[in-house]
Amino acid sequence: MGHPNRILILFAHPALEKSRVNRHLIRAVQGLDSVTLHDLYEQYPNFHINAKAEQDLLRAHDLIVFQHPFYWYSSPAILKEWQDLVLEYGFAYGQGGTALRGKKFLSAITTGGSEKAYCRQGHNYFTIRELLAPFEQTARLCGMDYLPPFVVPSTHQITQPEQIAHYGDAYRMSLVALRDGTVDWPTLRQHKTLNAYLAQILPQVSSPVMQPEIAPHGQ
Ligand SMILES: Cc1cc2nc3c(=O)[nH]c(=O)nc-3n(C[C@H](O)[C@H](O)[C@H](O)COP(=O)(O)O)c2cc1C
Repeated sequence: MGHPNRILILFAHPALEKSRVNRHLIRAVQGLDSVTLHDLYEQYPNFHINAKAEQDLLRAHDLIVFQHPFYWYSSPAILKEWQDLVLEYGFAYGQGGTALRGKKFLSAITTGGSEKAYCRQGHNYFTIRELLAPFEQTARLCGMDYLPPFVVPSTHQITQPEQIAHYGDAYRMSLVALRDGTVDWPTLRQHKTLNAYLAQILPQVSSPVMQPEIAPHGQ
């Protein structure tokens, strides 16, 4: 095996003290070897993002994770500001803009809405994967390899500590597998979510809310 994939988690939650789910997910992956946790609201409470420092961080990692609650079908505001300032022409795209080429990209999100609400018949009409299109296409434009997202749905229904712990375990195991490269990439790509893939390869992390689902062709 080659060197482990170095993982950078760009974490965005504007009110971590009120978070139940993201706070736990963060705790579950804190201290993992080769995983750098970068809390954007903590680092930049006034949104004065240091683009150069962020670009250096990106260069030093192989897998970039955007972890955040889903807010208005997107991310909390600081992550948009981060994209606007850090993904510069000549760094991330355009002439000479090859710094991110070949890296992998993962969205790790928590949603108030249930999985069922995210479909044509549901409240949210669009699927989560469709709504993540700006992130996916941004990653593509930068030459990155976009992975199926890690999704914790129905956060308001997650009330038991075991349920939260379950997602924390799934998140940690997902990052460990991605870090160590013990992932069957073509099979992963057939799944709607990283957690669904994980539930298939590690049945012990399966649960009623995490049944494996094979995405229809082309998704
Ligand atoms: C400003 C705001 C916007 C939100 N928008 C959405 C949304 O578009 N879709 C959704 O499913 N949940 C939405 N939610 C619910 C959050 O995603 C949910 O509370 C969060 O994922 C829970 O994670 P936490 O415990 O770490 O805060 C929104 C919540 C807030 C405060």
